[in-house]
Amino acid sequence: MIILKSSQEIDLMRRAGKITAAARALAGEMVRPGVTTREIDQAVAHFIKKQGAVPSFLHYGGYPANVCISINDEVIHGIPSRRALREGDIVSIDVGAFIGGFHGDCAATFPCGKVSAEAMRLIEVTRQSFFEGLKQARQGRRVPDISAAVQRYAEAAGYSLVREYVGHGVGRKMHEEPEVPNYVEPEQKRPRLLKGMTIAVEPMVNAGTADVTVMGDGWTVKTADGSLSAHYENTILITDGEPELLTDPI
Ligand code: MF3
Ligand code: CO
Repeated sequence: MIILKSSQEIDLMRRAGKITAAARALAGEMVRPGVTTREIDQAVAHFIKKQGAVPSFLHYGGYPANVCISINDEVIHGIPSRRALREGDIVSIDVGAFIGGFHGDCAATFPCGKVSAEAMRLIEVTRQSFFEGLKQARQGRRVPDISAAVQRYAEAAGYSLVREYVGHGVGRKMHEEPEVPNYVEPEQKRPRLLKGMTIAVEPMVNAGTADVTVMGDGWTVKTADGSLSAHYENTILITDGEPELLTDPI
């Protein structure tokens, strides 16, 4: 069942989204050579708690940290550690915050210092693929209209969309219906978008093939071919007009 949010619930989601987006911005500002991913995790957790919110990911399904930080060929769910960032890394940071009964969820990939032109292009195409999807996020269109727009844009640039992980509804739970895939296929559900739906659109784009594997830590997802991967996500509200970004984009 897809939950439509009331205007009071939307106000609460705006508050959760603001904090989540500010936490992502803070995390992005910390990306530089030498910083450890745990330092970023701790700073983000401190910020979220100072706002009166709770990091959504901590203990979610047993997840052991506050944010996900995935470097280079890591796609998503990288666990913060003593690993230090290096010049040229691309760093995907995924943040969730829970306050007032609702979650915000957003992610972005940041360059660490100067990165290769190919890496920068992957980051930019991934971000833009989200905005191509966003154009379809309107009442009366269907979820696969978003999926198709994301896929068309990223594939036209020569990249692959991860299939094992998808966008999703967001609300009182971090993952609600509907699923929002970044690809289309014939047997897919085709839910109609309605005013009051809140969804996270989150392309995960690989420079090489779409295949991914989960590492021995049980969380970190990497590209199977070792190619770079980027991620970009915002929580959005479907309205009867333009979609509203509940997490201020970066
Ligand atoms: N933020 C992820 C998503 O976009 C979920 C994080 S999984 C967790 O759906 F276990 F780390 F919380
Ligand atoms: Co998400």
